[in-house]
Amino acid sequence: MSASSNAIESVLVENRVFPPADSVVKAARVSGMAGYEALCAEANKDPEGFWARLAREHLQWTKPFTQTLDESKAPFYQWFADGELNASANCLDKHMGTPVENKAAILFEADDGTVTQVTYRQLLERVSQFANALKAHGVQQGDRVLIYMPMGVEGVVAMQACARIGATHSVVFGGFSAKALNERIIDAGAVAVITANYQLRGGKELPLKAIVDEGLSMGGCDSIKNVFVYQRTATACDMVAGRDKTFSEILAGQSTECPPTPVGAEHPLFILYTSGSTGKPKGVQHSTGGYLLWAKVTMEWTFDIRPDDVFWCTADIGWITGHTYVAYGPLAAGATQVVFEGVPTYPNAGRFWQMIERHKVTVFYTAPTAIRSLIKAADSDESVHPKNWDLSSLRILGSVGEPINPEAWMWYYRHVGGERCPIVDTFWQTENGGHVITPLPGATPLVPGSCTLPLPGIQAAIVDETGKDLPNGAGGMLVIKRPWPSMIRTIWGDPERFKKSYFPEELGGTTYLAGDGAVRSADRGYFRITGRIDDVLNVSGHRMGTMEIESALVAKTDLVAEAAVVGRPDDLTGEAICAFVVLKRSRPTGEEAKQIATELRNWVAKEIGPIAKPKDIRFGDNLPKTRSGKIMRRLLRSIAKGEPITQDTSTLENPAILDQLAQSN
Ligand code: WT7
Repeated sequence: MSASSNAIESVLVENRVFPPADSVVKAARVSGMAGYEALCAEANKDPEGFWARLAREHLQWTKPFTQTLDESKAPFYQWFADGELNASANCLDKHMGTPVENKAAILFEADDGTVTQVTYRQLLERVSQFANALKAHGVQQGDRVLIYMPMGVEGVVAMQACARIGATHSVVFGGFSAKALNERIIDAGAVAVITANYQLRGGKELPLKAIVDEGLSMGGCDSIKNVFVYQRTATACDMVAGRDKTFSEILAGQSTECPPTPVGAEHPLFILYTSGSTGKPKGVQHSTGGYLLWAKVTMEWTFDIRPDDVFWCTADIGWITGHTYVAYGPLAAGATQVVFEGVPTYPNAGRFWQMIERHKVTVFYTAPTAIRSLIKAADSDESVHPKNWDLSSLRILGSVGEPINPEAWMWYYRHVGGERCPIVDTFWQTENGGHVITPLPGATPLVPGSCTLPLPGIQAAIVDETGKDLPNGAGGMLVIKRPWPSMIRTIWGDPERFKKSYFPEELGGTTYLAGDGAVRSADRGYFRITGRIDDVLNVSGHRMGTMEIESALVAKTDLVAEAAVVGRPDDLTGEAICAFVVLKRSRPTGEEAKQIATELRNWVAKEIGPIAKPKDIRFGDNLPKTRSGKIMRRLLRSIAKGEPITQDTSTLENPAILDQLAQSN
């Protein structure tokens, strides 16, 4: 990322401002900028006192902590380390005997529209029973359990049951391949897999268990002792005797009571794999105490959650958003939430609006990609426009996963929120555990396309390569200067990579480097995220490493000699994956090129998952390289965008290749 391109961008200031209505400010938990500033002042004056107060108020501890923050092993920070608690008890048990006990925890809407309601009491019983079944099969505190499940109550139950017995879960999104599963099982050393026979999405039955079988058969998975299978559909799947058991088999006879196991605050609640700038995904390790604290606090601050709210976060439990704002946050806050199995476009692109009306959703949280695709659908078919449904129950809208373009923001604000609902554009990352930069609905004047200001206690800043603070208006690297409770603890099994990726020596070794570029507005100091500054792409809010895709391509050793992957802007998906490929045989053209491109796309889908399929594949005799052999990616980015090359190409070994690649599409 160059500073000059950011300077130019920052001239294109967004000058529309939407302050919250007085009535919203008055009723909000954090009320007005005065309320926000008071919290910031408390956090700045005595950070540890601030976090300790929140941790005591929001969590139930079986053993109180005496030390808030331990920095002695920085950047391996420890929070509330001598305290003990259980995450599941803090989401379920604590509501028993309160008015929350018999209220709906989950309104589950299946792909086909069937609705099932589960109360907090029922959820506690189901989680406890499942926890007992895990224990009965030898799953112990500290073990890792891999979860590969469809969206539904059972997925949440599986996660909560792990938490209940102190097992560390690692959820893998149902769109990842057998190979991706295999790598994660090996890296985590998982003892069990929890999966389903099939998943239902958009009226289609898609296999899950068969992919688990394939992943396990790839070798290296001796740690796996059990595979537990939820029968989502009536279709049979293969079962390996001794290893595989259905949910009904393991739950039969198990008690619906299971005392929660207290664990230390730093005990790893979960590992979640995400893409980095090298080929291998990183196992982001989160804590129990600090993570859960932020899940609960942000439900209250960012979503202003109240007892009568119906909260709906559309994220899958396979992503961090589905961890914090489906599996943990809403339950810790005692909210009623909608859990949706299907896709936004089935049976038609009005599904989200129909569901908001049906369940009287009050707080709705989704991704810009979904909004953009629904705008497109509504533009071409009036019958799926949100105006056809009663969305008057809504009071707060949220956006997450990628920058939201002002045009999509305005549409969301007008046609979904009826110009009445604040939009919280929440910036955060898998590594952050919960929101870090976001408006507060009853406080922050909104500017379309800006995630506005850091939450109280989050010391976000923009710096240059040497760590020097940059003034408002200047683009630079987003950092967080002080630790916060829900931050990543380490990369599972790779502490050195943790330090190098997030706490580089160049910035002093204790400043968290987000990996995003950002700029603050000259007038308000509002943050706007300008995109990743590393080799990570954001495609439809899904994080993909360019190196990961490159490794997948060159793993097709019979065909591919070399590959380079870059992103290019895309109106719908934010970024699109563009691969430049050199084959081991001569450069294909025409029909043959199309055929090989399809073959390579399918190959990548098998290696990583369908979400990683390159949109464009261009073939060349070679790649643009410097004389020392380094691929010049910035040139490839220009070609991918269809831009003329304006950069200096004097260090290029083979300038003629640029024309060839530009034409080969
Ligand atoms: C990357 C993190 C945790 C949310 C789900 C994605 C981008 C996320 C925003 C936003 C602009 C955003 C960043 C970040 N991102 N939210 N509101 N505005 N960019 O989590 O897969 O870990 O990806 O998503 O680039 O680094 P993730």
